[in-house]
Amino acid sequence: MIAMFDSGLGGLSIWRAVSKALPDWPITYLADQAYAPYGSRSRAEITRRTLQAGHFLEQQGAKLLVVACNTATTVAVKALRRELAIPIVGVEPAIKPAAAASRNGRIGVLATPATLASDRVRSLIEQHADGVAVLSQPGTGWVERVEAGDLDSAHTRKVVSEALAPLLRERVDHIVLGCTHYPFLEPLIRELAGDGVTLDDPAHAIARRVRSLLADQAAPGRLPRYRFITTSPDACDMAAHLPAMIGAAYPVESHPLEQTPPSQPHRL
Ligand code: DGL
Repeated sequence: MIAMFDSGLGGLSIWRAVSKALPDWPITYLADQAYAPYGSRSRAEITRRTLQAGHFLEQQGAKLLVVACNTATTVAVKALRRELAIPIVGVEPAIKPAAAASRNGRIGVLATPATLASDRVRSLIEQHADGVAVLSQPGTGWVERVEAGDLDSAHTRKVVSEALAPLLRERVDHIVLGCTHYPFLEPLIRELAGDGVTLDDPAHAIARRVRSLLADQAAPGRLPRYRFITTSPDACDMAAHLPAMIGAAYPVESHPLEQTPPSQPHRL
């Protein structure tokens, strides 16, 4: 199976694209909701949870792991690659394609504070946005609105327009959605940003990458079994949000990662 994980429900934006691109593959999705949001946590804590989630999913039989979280990828994917034996696909802000496609040389990057502060984002900007003005902006409060399934209330509109305002004032023509929760706010962002702004979401590029990495492996060839696991004791909350977010209802299991016995780390 393909394994995916995020701090919460945001990685379902990647799940939608991967399940569509690889319809024969089972997918196990882990939401670390007991620790969401990751974006304001310390590097040490994000790394510890990312490693725990990675080991758990490898033990479940994952053939490939998608870290469907920009925060976990930009902070901890190097540590994860040192410890797991399976291929890992990370999700990071689409700064390179946005900078390349910008017509006016001004792009915005919306992401969590931890992602924006990461060395990885600094080096993406240095390497791929030469001569392009990159305006970084935390999507303050956005993850919480998506976790609550509140995508269009007056409060959500206020929170979304507050973070967009500085980018729109600076007339960016691309906005990088650098957190996997943000695509669920896309209709609202589009409405507030207007037609002149292109939103950059990496979901389809990630799905193509996963498909190419699994191209030489036979798909299991039976109906895919989709599993959803949350680290929160309340699995009903996630189950209630799945139909609106991925278009179908599924049971959700609750599993606190602390119960996972530490596995033998694979060192490369
Ligand atoms: N969805 C995640 C990301 O892409 C994490 C957001 C959070 O938990 O703060 O960054």
